Amino acid sequence: MIYVWLEGYDFKYEIHETLRIFFSEKEITYIEKLDKEPSFDIEGAFLVCSVTDCQGSLILEIKLSDGEYVNSKRVSIGDVPEGDKRLEKLRTARKRVKREVYIVLADYTGKSMPWGVLTGVRPVKIAMEMLERGIERQEALSELREHYLISKEKAELILDIAHREREILKKTDSDTISLYIGIPFCPSRCLYCSFTSYSISGYRHLTESYLQALRSELNAVNDIIKEKAFRIQNIYIGGGTPTSLDAALLRELLDFIENNFDLDSLEEFTLEAGRPDSIDLEKLKVIKDSRVNRISINPQTMNDSVLETIGRKHTASEVIQAFNLARELGFENINMDIIAGLPGESTEMFENSLKEISLLNPESLTVHTMAVKRASRLKESMEKYSFTDESDVSKMVKMAQEYALAMGMHPYYLYRQKDMLGKLENIGYCRPGFESIYNIQIMEEKQTIIAAGADAVTKVVYPEENRIERAFNVKDVEEYIRRVDEMVERKRALL
Ligand SMILES: C[S@@+](CC[C@H](N)C(=O)[O-])C[C@H]1O[C@@H](n2cnc3c(N)ncnc32)[C@H](O)[C@@H]1O
Ligand code: SF4
Repeated sequence: MIYVWLEGYDFKYEIHETLRIFFSEKEITYIEKLDKEPSFDIEGAFLVCSVTDCQGSLILEIKLSDGEYVNSKRVSIGDVPEGDKRLEKLRTARKRVKREVYIVLADYTGKSMPWGVLTGVRPVKIAMEMLERGIERQEALSELREHYLISKEKAELILDIAHREREILKKTDSDTISLYIGIPFCPSRCLYCSFTSYSISGYRHLTESYLQALRSELNAVNDIIKEKAFRIQNIYIGGGTPTSLDAALLRELLDFIENNFDLDSLEEFTLEAGRPDSIDLEKLKVIKDSRVNRISINPQTMNDSVLETIGRKHTASEVIQAFNLARELGFENINMDIIAGLPGESTEMFENSLKEISLLNPESLTVHTMAVKRASRLKESMEKYSFTDESDVSKMVKMAQEYALAMGMHPYYLYRQKDMLGKLENIGYCRPGFESIYNIQIMEEKQTIIAAGADAVTKVVYPEENRIERAFNVKDVEEYIRRVDEMVERKRALL
């Protein structure tokens, strides 16, 4: 347990974020009223952070003690945020607070975290911004290491990815957009999943009316695209698992898109065929007959016992069958998703998955690190499962990197999420030329993404103003069907 007392200028958000790198939410207690320093009959440590104004400078004082361990420091974290450069000064102070608190906590816990003080979803954006400012690689590396305390390996990784992404983004015209279409049905709900997903067996009766509502939303989206003279660069049909739909409905949806939208500028069209237990020959033929040029077939693991634990209802051999079937039909761009740190999976078992995947030789491999999400079944029943310890998860992530490199792939996009084991990351690897433009666009947030379907989020990017606006669709599928006109209005208002 760590007890925290804050004084002076309000940097609670930054201090809390930094504490969360080392401690769980439950281990952090804020003290509201302090009469005297705590006597150490309490379990845990006591952290005092005060930020005060001293002749125009902000002074941060940190004291951490637990009865035996004592650490204190007093540093200037820049100018008091006033005057015309107020926001810039505030930004500097925020960064410095995080850095100084991190250093004390790292010393106390004896841990050094791979991503240093970074807690955001998109660390590559920081590297990208440095490249855009024309900073040389060596200087960027030292800035990342010095200011954000990132490990050398991760700093190099995000610089490499930023460089690769930049080359691809350069080729994107400013009038292009991406279109996302969400299908919130799955064969069953996976243990770790927090996405909007309805089991197809219980909700098949809603699929037709869902697609009807979706078509009406897509018609309105098409009108907006024409009015604004946008050109569609990428389409991504995800969810959920779109291949949960019957072959006839899948065909209807794909035909509708091709018959209505102007696809002259389309470069990438992905369809998540995620679950092997949702794929058959008929559906793959429907997809092959369409403009879709990239699919995902996701094992998550190639170990049957773990597949059972996570509720996937398919075996590893079904993954292989689905993959081979897709190859036989001529699919030339197949992605596979795996997760490092699944409950009950050892490093040896994880390596087995990597070996099996190497034999299949997909064009891309996305390596996720297990995240225990609030809205997942897993979160509700954590005590039932055994989790991989942080050092093993880290080994798995390294191992996946080695296998990906051996398959001739390179990392091309990366993001992080809250509550990932080992505070690691998700990395997309691919063979050169198979980078998913949509994945890069969604991470770099440099392109407007218009999204349709339950739980879809439209993101409008205003690059000149460095501003992003969002419109949210409702999550509940029945509510979506009922209120689809309202979803359209939200988008119109935004666009
Ligand atoms: C949006 S999901 C949908 C993909 C598809 N429905 C499937 O499950 O195969 C995309 C990927 O995120 C990953 N993922 C989902 N939940 C996760 C979690 N809690 N922790 C780590 N990775 C997760 C999985 O690898 C999954 O394939
Ligand atoms: S198949 Fe994918 S979207 Fe569906 S429940 Fe599993 S992880 Fe979630």
